[in-house]
Amino acid sequence: MSFDVDDILTQATTDELARLVCGDGTWHTSGIERLGVRRVRVADGPHGLRVELGASLGESRPATCFPPAVGLASSWNPALLKRVGQALGREASEQGVDVVLGPGVNIKRSPLGGRNFEYFSEDPLLAGTLASALVYGLQAEGVGACVKHFAANNQETDRMRVDVRVSERALREIYLPAFEKVVLSAHPWMVMCSYNKLNGTHVSQDPWLLTDVLRGDWDYDGAVVSDWGAVLDRVESLAAGLDLEMPHELGNSDVEVADAVESGQMSRELLELGAARILALTQRAVDAVRPAGPVDAAAHHQLAREAAQESMVLLANDGVLPLAPRAKVALVGEFARSPRFQGGGSSKVNATTVERLVDTLAARRRVTFAPGFLLSGEFDDPLVDEAVAAAEASDVVVACLGLPDAEETEGQDRTHLRLPDAQLALLGALAEAGKPIVVVLSNGSAVEVSPWLEHANALIEGWLGGQAGALALADVLVGDAEPSGRLAETLAVRLGDHPSSLMFPGETGFVDYGEGVFVGYRGFDAADREVAFPFGFGLGYTTFSYDRLVVKVTGTPASRDLRVAVQVTVTNTGDRAGCEVVQVYVGNAPASVPRPPRELRAFTKLRLEPGESRTVTLPLDARAFSFWSQVHGRWVVESGLFTIEAGPNSRDLPLVQELRLDVPARRARLHAESTIAEWMADEEAWAALMARVPGGASIEFTPGVMAVMAGQPLRRFAKYPDVPLTAADVDAVLASHG
Ligand code: BGC
Repeated sequence: MSFDVDDILTQATTDELARLVCGDGTWHTSGIERLGVRRVRVADGPHGLRVELGASLGESRPATCFPPAVGLASSWNPALLKRVGQALGREASEQGVDVVLGPGVNIKRSPLGGRNFEYFSEDPLLAGTLASALVYGLQAEGVGACVKHFAANNQETDRMRVDVRVSERALREIYLPAFEKVVLSAHPWMVMCSYNKLNGTHVSQDPWLLTDVLRGDWDYDGAVVSDWGAVLDRVESLAAGLDLEMPHELGNSDVEVADAVESGQMSRELLELGAARILALTQRAVDAVRPAGPVDAAAHHQLAREAAQESMVLLANDGVLPLAPRAKVALVGEFARSPRFQGGGSSKVNATTVERLVDTLAARRRVTFAPGFLLSGEFDDPLVDEAVAAAEASDVVVACLGLPDAEETEGQDRTHLRLPDAQLALLGALAEAGKPIVVVLSNGSAVEVSPWLEHANALIEGWLGGQAGALALADVLVGDAEPSGRLAETLAVRLGDHPSSLMFPGETGFVDYGEGVFVGYRGFDAADREVAFPFGFGLGYTTFSYDRLVVKVTGTPASRDLRVAVQVTVTNTGDRAGCEVVQVYVGNAPASVPRPPRELRAFTKLRLEPGESRTVTLPLDARAFSFWSQVHGRWVVESGLFTIEAGPNSRDLPLVQELRLDVPARRARLHAESTIAEWMADEEAWAALMARVPGGASIEFTPGVMAVMAGQPLRRFAKYPDVPLTAADVDAVLASHG
């Protein structure tokens, strides 16, 4: 039933409004029954719904389990994400859920992050674009999205208390843009604040983040909810812009809020502001037009299969794939029988059905299965011997390796990047059998591949494939589908190479994001560090050439209408159809601040027939050339030379063009701590200062002296006895020219 928000605010008592800004139990808002305001129901479900049947993190209703974000992100395909979002929306509708708690768009700062499987990428543009598509699809079905965990929640270690110490520049350029993009382009009904502290303040009570940035800079008009249990002080959090506390047992924080209003500690207007947003959320849920009729579970399973095909990244292939039609296959590895297809924690779905490679591959090739290792990680020599015997009797080995369930879960970070020892020993033994080996990985976050890559004739990074992952794997192995994923995160040679490695997960109580904006490939490239496989990388079963780059500029940064159209021509040079992800990166060096050599600024996924050529145009705006200036507190495009590179991955960019942008320099304001060089750069101010030197003289420096003195604040220099100026002279000029 529809209602008028203002009417309700006028009629509701303070107690009723206080209850409205607190949840009712674990999965509902409170509503005001007396006034006809119903409760809003939320449920987890970034890659499949989790409607709990009883205890927290216990049993849940069956739902389609799509590949988690790590897989979906590797598709680099917003159209696919939109369809997955729509399917989630339909399942949510059927189960009476108004808002799905997802997607999670936090940046993968370290490959050890325990929830990396639930997050998209190390790159904010990729994460933001894909998450926006998912949110758009979900909300198109009349179900709200709740983008999470806002913000800088990039580790599980001490996640509820850790103080993330990070520069505003790194926040604005790396950790916030995925949220910003989702908010501005997909308008999620809700945003969930994270548990951690940000530069000293608990996010749940941080007015800068929840109000100034989210509502001020990005104009967000939806509701902000706490992560489950993130609120310390309900009154402070409400004042900071947190509209809803979850979960909540009525009779606690709602009483604190009502008391604060009664005692005058908090104004009723402030309470009404939060309550109005919950009412608006309720109104959206009430007005939503939702599809009628039951969910087509088979169609959703098929979509999960398609999504998994697009998520798989073929990292190496000497020609052994696709498997020859008559090949006798030794299918080795317990994961072929007991698939790992999702991670642990609040996103864990009770899948409607789960495919197994022992069945799906056996339906298409002659297969002998040998488990090869125990999921517990214990060594078992007879299992290895059995697997080696199967390998010897076959033409090719498909080895299903990966991370055990227990290593990838919410609440806990990993400590290393290695596959379990028992699996590595198995792979070594299989290699001795001398048959070609296809390694298929099941893991939700990056593992080290370099130490054993020589044993793999082909390597498929299957990530966590969701419930239909094994169908998709069989499709890809036999060549009925192409593995068309690309890496959404860098695979390092070793953990220590990661820019964040010395500062993850921090010390007692805090973590310093000392690598600043140099996260993922931005850091690897800046340090010129070798990688196992670069960001954006992925092979297919065909090949492509990049032939032409045309860059067309209209507008200017100064007039705020800069538009750069990047045209790229790509040709499928192989003999089968295939997908390519065209990636465009922008770099700006030298600049007045350290900038990454290149940053992903646009991408598109194409499907081309053999021999087909296509020219695509990727648009860039001023933001693609900007950095966040800490000095000015805003985005800045500087005059200078920019490189625009296009190609198949961040380390293979065959098309390059330089672009010169001229931006009229704004006069830098001089102040008491401005240096001699800064004063001399301001001709007018310097002349005014020289006019104060007694006897019409002026101050001049030899190059050698200048090298030493350029960085001295002039006002302090003026205090030297032999300098013919005083601090008072400097102040006088500052008064007119500062
Ligand atoms: C998680 C959220 C989740 C919530 C509800 C929290 O522990 O961080 O992602 O949505 O629980 O289950």
